[in-house]
Amino acid sequence: MTKINSLTGMPDLHDSEDKKSFSSKLFTVEKKLKKIFTNFNYKEIRTPILEDANLFLRSVGSTSDIVNKEIYSFNDRNNKAIALRPEGTASIIRSIIERKLENSTHKLWYSGPMWRYERPQKGRYRQFNQAGIEILGLPEGLPEFETISLVCSIIQELNIKNCIIKINHLGSPDEKEKFSSALVNFLKEYEHVLDEKDKLRLRNNPLRVLDTKNLDTQKILKEAPSIKDFIDDASLLLLKKIKNQFSDICKIDIDHSLVRGLDYYSGFVFEAISLDLGAQDSFLGGGRYDQLSSQLGGKEMPSIGFAVGLERLSEIVDVEVDTKIKISFIIATSNLEENAYKIAHQMRRLNDEVILDCYLQEGSLKSKLRKANKNNSDYAIIVGEEELENNTVIIKSLKDELTDQKVVSVDQLDSFFQDL
Ligand code: HAM
Repeated sequence: MTKINSLTGMPDLHDSEDKKSFSSKLFTVEKKLKKIFTNFNYKEIRTPILEDANLFLRSVGSTSDIVNKEIYSFNDRNNKAIALRPEGTASIIRSIIERKLENSTHKLWYSGPMWRYERPQKGRYRQFNQAGIEILGLPEGLPEFETISLVCSIIQELNIKNCIIKINHLGSPDEKEKFSSALVNFLKEYEHVLDEKDKLRLRNNPLRVLDTKNLDTQKILKEAPSIKDFIDDASLLLLKKIKNQFSDICKIDIDHSLVRGLDYYSGFVFEAISLDLGAQDSFLGGGRYDQLSSQLGGKEMPSIGFAVGLERLSEIVDVEVDTKIKISFIIATSNLEENAYKIAHQMRRLNDEVILDCYLQEGSLKSKLRKANKNNSDYAIIVGEEELENNTVIIKSLKDELTDQKVVSVDQLDSFFQDL
């Protein structure tokens, strides 16, 4: 029979004993991010992975790459157009509007899979995981500082080297529009020499030309108008202040060519890139999106947020290996397994910080001990026929060869577990 494989660009994530493996790093990173977000007092939000496809047309934007060619959509049995979410922000705003919560402020975090029909390559998947935060209901000011403080905390906590946070200001919607018109006027003269992709961007979403990978277009852009001549002094000052406040922690560059791939942004925008990532070098992106709530039919709700790609982050983090004590629980006598297992059950309650790995498959004591060593266990606790009869266990240190194994009564195990 033919085998069924996973879909292109949708890898399985499978934790393993090797904490440096890609999947294990991703799970560790996810836990660490959750800890950072909750330490900042953000509350978790989980929205469905399926949404009305119109949600993304009206938010991410009909001219964005995502909606144009990357959205996963289908008609359901009722002929309603449904989309797998390509990002989290639009769904969160939809949820807040639906529950009539636009008048309050919110600090939210989320984590989960997203889908974009992209050409798979290193760092670019069709199903990938994002974690992010959104600060809702607060205008430009301190939220910008808190956002960059969070980004710096992630970089510090995960020990990410060789990275740069690029920041820019796209002005008010009006200023963004004026800049966009000036850019179009400038680029019109060069339209005939632009490649097809940039021509299309010029027509549909001119600011995205600034993101071009084409070296000839990049040369032309050197003479192009810059957003810095269209935004007010307060916006320029905000960029300088953020750079000054956080430059001792992370490298921050003001980059006036930074535009984001989603349509809903205006005001402060940013991206974190890593010099170790190759072509898909951006591992985090975000910015302000004050108009999104009203665009989606809600009340005005100034907001800012960002999302980090867990797969890209896992490529560059330097995670510490788990420092928890690990014990392999080995039942040496197969006919008494059920009785012996009960001891493991009781032991788990003595110290929930300890990892207790109970071998469930048959095998010789020797092979089980070999496995315990391979799994990097600190101790083996062995129960055989004699021990079970006497209500004892054998404790064997696997890290310290010089210490003799000892026999301990089950009733005394709590002091062993407390001392670990
Ligand atoms: P984004 O820049 O489209 O922003 O995505 C954020 C991050 O998701 C990227 O920096 C990257 O690490 C990761 N990512 C995006 N596409 C892929 C892919 N195909 N494969 C692997 N990783 C990918 C947003 O999604 C906004 N919702 C962020 C935001 C939140 N803005 C305001 N609030």
